[in-house]
Amino acid sequence: MSTDANTSGSDWQPGHSFTPPKEFAAQANASDPEIYGRAAEDPEVFWAGYASRLDWMEPWNQILEWNPPHAKWFVGGKLNVSTNCLDRHLATNGDRRAIVWEGEPGDQRTLTYRELSALVNQFANVLKQQGVGKGDRVSIYMPMVPEAAIAMLACTRLGALHSVVFGGFSVESLAERTNDCGAKVIITADGYWRRGNIVPLKSVVDEALPSCPSVKRAIVLRRAGDKCPVKMEPGRDLWWHDLIVGQSTDCAAEPMDAEDPLFILYTSGSTGKPKGILHTTGGYLTGAYTTTQLVFDIKPTDLYWCTADIGWITGHSYVVYGPLANCATVFMYEGSPDWSTQGEPCRDRFWDMIERHKITILYTAPTLIRACMKWGDEHPAKHDLSSLRLLGSVGEPINPEAWLWYHRHIGRERCPIVDTWWQTETGSIMITSLPGLTTTHPGSATRPFPGISVDVVDDMGRSLPPDHKGILVITKPWPSMLRTIWGDDHRYQQVYWSRFPGLYFPGDGALRDMEGNYWLLGRVDDIMLVAGHNLSTMELESVLVEHPAVAEAAVIGRSHEVKGQAPVAFVIVREEYAPPSSDGEARKRLAAELKEFVSQRLGAVCRPDEVIISGDLPKTRSGKIMRRLLRDIAEGRVLGDTSTLADPNIVAGIKSKYGSDDD
Ligand code: WTA
Repeated sequence: MSTDANTSGSDWQPGHSFTPPKEFAAQANASDPEIYGRAAEDPEVFWAGYASRLDWMEPWNQILEWNPPHAKWFVGGKLNVSTNCLDRHLATNGDRRAIVWEGEPGDQRTLTYRELSALVNQFANVLKQQGVGKGDRVSIYMPMVPEAAIAMLACTRLGALHSVVFGGFSVESLAERTNDCGAKVIITADGYWRRGNIVPLKSVVDEALPSCPSVKRAIVLRRAGDKCPVKMEPGRDLWWHDLIVGQSTDCAAEPMDAEDPLFILYTSGSTGKPKGILHTTGGYLTGAYTTTQLVFDIKPTDLYWCTADIGWITGHSYVVYGPLANCATVFMYEGSPDWSTQGEPCRDRFWDMIERHKITILYTAPTLIRACMKWGDEHPAKHDLSSLRLLGSVGEPINPEAWLWYHRHIGRERCPIVDTWWQTETGSIMITSLPGLTTTHPGSATRPFPGISVDVVDDMGRSLPPDHKGILVITKPWPSMLRTIWGDDHRYQQVYWSRFPGLYFPGDGALRDMEGNYWLLGRVDDIMLVAGHNLSTMELESVLVEHPAVAEAAVIGRSHEVKGQAPVAFVIVREEYAPPSSDGEARKRLAAELKEFVSQRLGAVCRPDEVIISGDLPKTRSGKIMRRLLRDIAEGRVLGDTSTLADPNIVAGIKSKYGSDDD
């Protein structure tokens, strides 16, 4: 591979690479290449060095206790996450901006660290008054408003675990997650703005709560106001603004053991039921803090924007905990990238905000980059993006075309790009470039973060030589690793540690090239990456078969130009419901109904792009659906090996029908 420091981007060829710009390297937080060697020599000491820059109420007496697959980091240490994100900055940086927020209609708010701290303390007192204490669980179902971060931080102040549920999830998904963790309180808002409309949240909570017996209180933030009337259930529902009145801005922070649970965040599991990923206090914060500092090169002068919703791990680690622990100024936006402050469709809201607010660091997802590519170069071109100095990508593999577009049209060939591979389970970034040090290759996440050990192995768990496609594993424990699956440690051991005993199995394929760069190749299990969201094929299938018309369903992720993957469902319809194959209209209606059914049950993010009504599904002789072949059909490829099929004629049948049932 050639390494061409002067490649401008416009004449990029596969194999070309980009060295960090000299001006960037000269000021970077990570500027000493020795960091990799030092960390590799003694990862525990490396992590302890960063952990010791946090505020501890009591020091730890052992860095790591490793009883595979269970890790304890900073054993015996005590700390509180909210004091690390707030209190310790106040003496010198109380007036620094903590959050700069813009609502979709263009309304703005700025909170300094002092103001944020006061609000968090007040809200922690509110929660305390409602009976929330250490170890209790709190569901958060909120839009992207500062109060979402305030609610999270207030939980950590009391030692209560939050479980944030993405606002795009449905009644059932919210209820399932709330019941699984047994939340006592749910925090929500009336609604929020998206594409000029109000998306209601409280009404979803109203529908979910009758089936959530553990929830005693719903605290409701007024965001949408008159535009979104809500029904308050007496004795259960309380307004945030009523409760906060007169609360003290002081609330003692609970001293938490380093290994005390911090939060639960649900992620899709390949067997359908979502997994409650449990993170603990000391290790998680150390991971989020260290990676934010070194990967995003955070400085006091930055205005840093991670576009992820707080409903995802990226929002936890890189909107809230990592940046605030570093005393960064975080930008937050409520709405859609294609809606203007004037309330009209547009294609440049992000670039407009970067220009107006002088945002310096942008961390977003390939799906957004690809959507912007499609909308056209002229939209970013209208804007002065010279404030930007660093770009990041997360959520799925970024294809080289999108990487280069990002580099040219957003970074204007000045800004390094960090392509960051990690997961809900890993808590913080695992594979990434360091922007002042690493030569980047479009499409590769490059190298493991200092202190992280990974490998690419074959089916038997044997390390593969360079340039071989295999399975990614993490070979040593790291501070921000998940500790278990809430309420199901057996599943934790099964899912992550049983494929290759002693190695963490993230479920991703990968290749390591001759230079040691890692190329992520997508999931190797039944998880789809739809616009960066993890969806399980099983979860969609179980919902589809709940529909009276569906006898059997198989869901696959088909490649999609913008979303990366899009769900496509193949369904066998019960005879009494099957529209005759001659009645195209009736088949279309049923396909549309099934899409809507999934969307209602699981949320709009899960809506299938296409539903194909089929007479049968290709199965092996042992009865397993061969999704690989369905994927070949959906993507219009020549069919792979069909020799293990029980009835090879079935695929030919589906293939001939394919596409005719889309609405
Ligand atoms: C995928 C999001 C390639 C991967 C932080 C992983 C990526 C899953 C990248 C986790 C990347 C995330 N390159 N693939 N830079 N980032 N992924 O839990 O398949 O929502 O296992 O965490 O997203 O998704 P999750």
